[in-house]
This record gives sequence, C-alpha cells and structure tokens, in this order.
Amino acid sequence: MKERNISKANTAGSATGWGASGRRSGWLNAGCCALTVLALCLSGCATDETSKQVTLKGAFRKDFSIGVAVNQRQFTGQDTNGVAIIMSQFNSVSPENVLKWESVHPRPGTNGYDFAAADAFVAFGEKYHMLIVGHTLAWHGQTPRWVFQDENGRPLQGTNAADRAMLLQRLHDHIMTVVGRYKGRIQIWDVVNEALNDGGNFNRTNLLRQRSPWVRILGPEFIVKAFEWAHAADPGAVLRYNDYSIENEPKRKRLIALIKMLQAQHVPVMAIGSQTHANLNWPSPGLEDAALTDIAKLGLPIHITELDVDASAAGQRNQGADVSQNALAAGGGVVDAANQRLADQYSSLFRVFLKHRKNIELVTFWGVTDQDSWRSSGNPLLFDREGKPKESFQDVIQTASKDPKKLLAD
Ligand code: XIL
Repeated sequence: MKERNISKANTAGSATGWGASGRRSGWLNAGCCALTVLALCLSGCATDETSKQVTLKGAFRKDFSIGVAVNQRQFTGQDTNGVAIIMSQFNSVSPENVLKWESVHPRPGTNGYDFAAADAFVAFGEKYHMLIVGHTLAWHGQTPRWVFQDENGRPLQGTNAADRAMLLQRLHDHIMTVVGRYKGRIQIWDVVNEALNDGGNFNRTNLLRQRSPWVRILGPEFIVKAFEWAHAADPGAVLRYNDYSIENEPKRKRLIALIKMLQAQHVPVMAIGSQTHANLNWPSPGLEDAALTDIAKLGLPIHITELDVDASAAGQRNQGADVSQNALAAGGGVVDAANQRLADQYSSLFRVFLKHRKNIELVTFWGVTDQDSWRSSGNPLLFDREGKPKESFQDVIQTASKDPKKLLAD
C-alpha cells in the first residue's frame, strides 16, 4: 500500500502549476486504520472512551497528514517507546538532523558523502508507510565551513566569478547526489531553508538574509538553482521553501515577494513550509489566521513543518527560531500553569489550521517527546518526558471534532 503519489494534475489554484495535492486520497491511507488500532497506551491520562481510541493521524485524517521529526535513536529502533508513539500517532516523518549537509556530506568531493544515517531514516519511513520528508538542501546552518571556502581555506567571494562558479558547482553536485539517491522514496524536500531576512521593515531591497553565506556569495541565484536542480534530480518530489516567523508581517511580505519572484521565473517551488516554532503568546490566533490567509494567496499548499510551543519563561520573549537565538532563550524554567497554557495555545493553533484545511496538507511536530526536543526546557510537545500524552494532546485531538465553521468562534 504505497499510494503516496503527489498528483500534479490535482493542483487547482497553483499559480505556477507546481502545486501539490493528493493528501486526502493516498497519504492518509496508512493512518486510517489508526482509529481502530491504537498501539499507544493512553490509560491513566485519557478517561473517556473516545480519546482512548483516537490518534493524531486518525483525528485529522480528513484534514491533513500529521508528521514528526525523528532522531537517530528513533529511526534505528533503539528508542522503542519513541517508535511506538511514532507508529501509532503519525503518518509522516522528517529527519531532525541526518539529511543536513554536515551529516550527509561532511567532506568535499565525490567521496565526501556519508549516507548511513540518512539511509536508515528513509528505510524507517518506508517500513511504517510514512510520507517521507527530506530536510534540508541549502541552509546556512549545519553546513560545513569548507563549502564556502576554496581548497586553501580562503572564503569564497561574491565578487569573484570563479568563486561563485565553484559554490554553484558544489550546490549542484550536492543536490543531484542527495536528491538523486532518494528519488521516488523521499516525497517532499525542503530545498531552501531560512533564506529570508529577519528584522527591520519590509522593503524590496532587504528580502534575503545577508548573514547567510549562500546569500552573500550568490544572492537569489542559489535559490533559483537549488529548486531547478532538485526538480531535475527528482521530478516527482514536492519542493518546499521553508522558513520561520513568516507569521510576522515584514517577514511574511518578504516571503510573498520572494515566492512571486520565483513563480514569475517558473522556478519549481511547489509548497510553502512554515516552521511555526511558537511560544505561549505567539502567534496569536488572529496573527496565524491572517498569515495563512495571506500566504495561501500564492496558490501553493502550505505545510506546517516544525511545530512546537515553547512554555519556558525566557522562551516567551523569543519570536524567532534562529538556532543561536533559541539556545539563548531556552533557560529559566517553565511558566506557571504551563500545561494548561500550552494546551490552550495548541488548541488555538489547531483551530486555525483546521479553518485553513483546504490549503494545509501537512502538520509536522518538531520532535516526539519533550525529552527529545531541541527546546526541551520549554516542554514544547504533546508527549511528556516519559512519552505520556499531555493535556495538550487531548485538547488538540478535541479540536478535530469541532464544526469547522465554528472553529474560531468558541
Ligand atoms: C534543530 C535540531 O532540532 C537540533 O537538534 C539541532 O541541534 C539544530 O537544529 N529550524 C530548522 C531545523 O530548520 O533544522 C532546526 O533543527 C530548528 C530550527
């Protein structure tokens, strides 16, 4: 039963014709039996019969796929508790780290690849009939320094044509090799991650993140080429642009300007990934609703790609998911009544996601349990450190049974 084809024919509304759909037919088949078979024991947390039977993927089967980022201990089967939760609750997997450049391509040259962990991740996804996501091809983070240097360690310069050609060649080789290896097996790729500028007011001259060596050396060309090469390597894969805090207006406007520019050039960008590293106060339901409404106008499916809600006291000041900022913001213990506030924020967000269910194809959590999370001190996920479902889990499931028309009203 592998019907996870993402039909290009079924792309009404896509401005470029590259939109992706098909979730309600194929992707969710693996999840449909979840209502009857529940491998995870919810007893002790769930008192009523309904919540004992319902899983995340089952509850949202008519709305969107439900994914999770998995780590090495999970996809190698060492973390048996984690695997049980993944199998029972989710129908899509993203690799938390192992497909990033530093893991899969640590050294230069054709012998510089190391596919052992990524192969195990993909095999795990196939074993459990998951929709498999590849994360990520072109990002400034977790990319070795040599990528942006010549053989002697001299930093490549955007003003030097030979340097630019060298970096483009490396990007080309990386994408053709990695995407090509998993052709037909990884259904969705985060092709470009976090290329947008974060701060300040919107204007057309400050779209991209100047701190990224990709941007500094190549400018927007790396984005165009990355999508074109990924499409050439696997014409069947859904290609995403992925970023954080695109709910905030200046960054949302930058996203829309960038994607429109790509669409005008017929670049095969096929879905928008919104990381959604949230906290208890941000994004508000109104902001999330406005952002999804605006982004949907691009005519591309939206994927919520890295959902978590930081409940740490310090995390309430942080509205960015920049890896370094996030590490600084994570300390300080959780806020008072954290579980209740977390459950409220999660159910608010899911109400908005359900309101936009026509445009949202996939909602992925960034980690299985609070123990695994990159924002662990903020207890940001639906399963606690022992893997028990939290109040937030019950509340998220309950949003699924609400009348979609009333979702924002109560
Ligand atoms: C994080 C991982 O969860 C951590 O294990 C790692 O140390 C740093 O990266 N945006 C992204 C993800 O696109 O790849 C990041 O993942 C979180 C922010």
